[in-house]
Formats: sequence, structure tokens, C-alpha cells
Amino acid sequence: MRFVLTGGAGYIGSHVYRLLKERGHEVVVYDNLSHGHREAVEPSDLRVGDLHDTEKFREVLLSFRPDVVMHFAAFIEVGISTERPLEFFENNTVGTIRLVQAMMHTGVHHFIFSSTAAVYGHPERVPISEDARLTPVNPYGSSKVMVEEFLRSLSEWSSFRYVAIRYFNAAGAAEDGSIGEAHDPETHLIPLILKAAKGERPHITIFGTDFPTPDGTAIRDYIHVTDLAEAHLLAAEYLMDGGESQALNCGYSRGYSVREVIDTAKKVTGREFPVIEGDRRAGDPPALVADSSRMRTILGWKPTRDDLAYIIKTAWNWELNRRY
Ligand code: UFG
Repeated sequence: MRFVLTGGAGYIGSHVYRLLKERGHEVVVYDNLSHGHREAVEPSDLRVGDLHDTEKFREVLLSFRPDVVMHFAAFIEVGISTERPLEFFENNTVGTIRLVQAMMHTGVHHFIFSSTAAVYGHPERVPISEDARLTPVNPYGSSKVMVEEFLRSLSEWSSFRYVAIRYFNAAGAAEDGSIGEAHDPETHLIPLILKAAKGERPHITIFGTDFPTPDGTAIRDYIHVTDLAEAHLLAAEYLMDGGESQALNCGYSRGYSVREVIDTAKKVTGREFPVIEGDRRAGDPPALVADSSRMRTILGWKPTRDDLAYIIKTAWNWELNRRY
């Protein structure tokens, strides 16, 4: 198949890019490199361009003629979204609508959208099914819900078809250590812990020890980025086979607390580092765990890396030998 990946030089996009190439697909990455890394993509596959440069994006679609567009280019920092909400609606919501418009105008009708567990806000029940109410509690989550609603309606009234993948906590790195997570600033738990283990940060702070969870710290469903990448390929095959548009959760359906992640990281790295107990971070729900039965049934998704120690091991390997 032929794919265009927007944001394919970023963390999740680059792992999907790598998987698609390994499976023999043809891929063009469209990325403005504002957050992505040139080193993550072969130069001949990279088109440097902005989401808002509709003309340029349209030219890429017309010249490459993809079967499927996968859209990873988005702002992701929840905290920043609460300080600068307009930028999130502009980039994540308006940017996606413009992109889909360019697809429709050039006859490309299959779309994989990067959505998020943040669409659920503070869920009433865990594990969370796709039918749970969408009540986001920050502009980041809202910007994604608005796109999902746009996609749902568009697919109902046109030949456009999509799968929105609601990511839980993507983590880990490619097994060969060639690509990995490199956000700036880094806010995610596992890379921050590993920087503390490496001595690059003085400590790791636990954001909240009074959650209604067994050890008082927040629980998340950490999923290896390569299993998440597999879900994208399966979703594309599903659409190409005539599958119906829908949103699907992607997680292992198993949660770990912040303390469990820290303890596992200490074992995997063999390093000790200071752990400080701090206040809750604004807006963090106590537990986010996916009910992923739908993705397993509908896409035949069979993750093979459901092991927190393994996830941290691949992230540690990357962190020790980072190329960017
Ligand atoms: N945490 C700490 N200390 C840190 C960093 C994080 O205790 O230094 C905690 C957080 O409070 C949270 C957990 O570790 O309980 C995971 O935090 P991350 O920042 O790694 O991930 P989030 O669950 O906050 O966010 C992820 C994605 C978002 C997405 C969200 C869905 O990164 O893009 O899941 O709610 F919106």
C-alpha cells in the first residue's frame, strides 16, 4: 500500500513509518520538523511541509497518490493546551479539517486519525469502553473530540472513511534502538524516570500520592509504541477491505501505578535515584485503562509486547544511545 504520514518524523509517527517500510509499503512523510526529527526518516521519503500549507500538502497527495493518510501531526501537551488553547484548536482541529479537505479534493478517502484517551476526561468506569461519554477536561482533549465528531459526520455523508485510534500511554522505543521518544520539553513519565536514572535529572517527582488507587498514585495503561504501530497498519488494511468508520481504543487493558513504573525502572536499569512525592498535576485522572476488546476483535490486533519491564528496557536502550 501507499501511505502519507503527517508528523511521521515524530515519536509515534516514526515508529509507524519504520513498521510500514519493514513490511514493504511505500511511505511519504509530511512533517514541518517543528517537533519531529529529520534523522527518524530516510531523506528520500521526507517532504518538509506545514499542515497549514494546504497547497503543498495537496501537491504531495497528487504526486504520490496514497491509498491511506495517517495523521500524527498534532500538539500533545495537555498543560500547554490549558495555557494556549487557541493554538490547539488551530493546529489540531482546524489543521485536520484542512488536511481532510485536501484529501477529499484529491480523491483520497481513507484516513487513520491519532486520537487519545484524553477524549474521556475523568471516566466513570475503568476499563474504559469506546461507548463511554466523551467529556474531555482540557483543550487538548476537546480539540481531538471535535475532530472525531467531524470525521463521524463526514463519513456518514460521503465516501470518506476513517479509523480514529484512541491511544492510551504510548511508551518504549524501537527494539534496535534506532528511533525513540525525544520530546522537548519532555513531560512523559517513563523518559523522565530514565533521565533521573541516567543522572541527567536530580530526581523524579510523583504527581500525587492521594489518588483513590491501591498505592495512592495514578494508574495508566502503558503500551509499547511498536504494538501501537501494528494497530495502525491493521486499521489501514481494515479500511482498504471496506471496513466501517469508527473510533477504537488502543491499550493493553492493564494499568500500572506511577510507583510500579518507578520500581520497575529501578530493576530494569539497576540504578537508584531520588523519588520525591509531590502534589497532583492539574487535570490528571486517577486511572486510565483501555477496554481494547473491540480493537482485538475488529482489527485482529494481537499485541506481543505487553510487559512493562520490556517497554522500559527498550526505552532505556534508546535513552543510553540516543541519536537525536
Ligand atoms: N507523572 C508523574 N511524574 C512526572 C510525570 C508524570 O508522576 O514527572 C504521572 C502523571 O501524573 C500521570 C502518569 O505519570 O499520572 C503518566 O503521565 P504522562 O505525562 O506520561 O502521561 P499522561 O497520562 O498524563 O498523558 C498521556 C498522553 C497525553 C494524553 C493522555 C491521555 O501523553 O497526550 O495520556 O489522558 F492526553
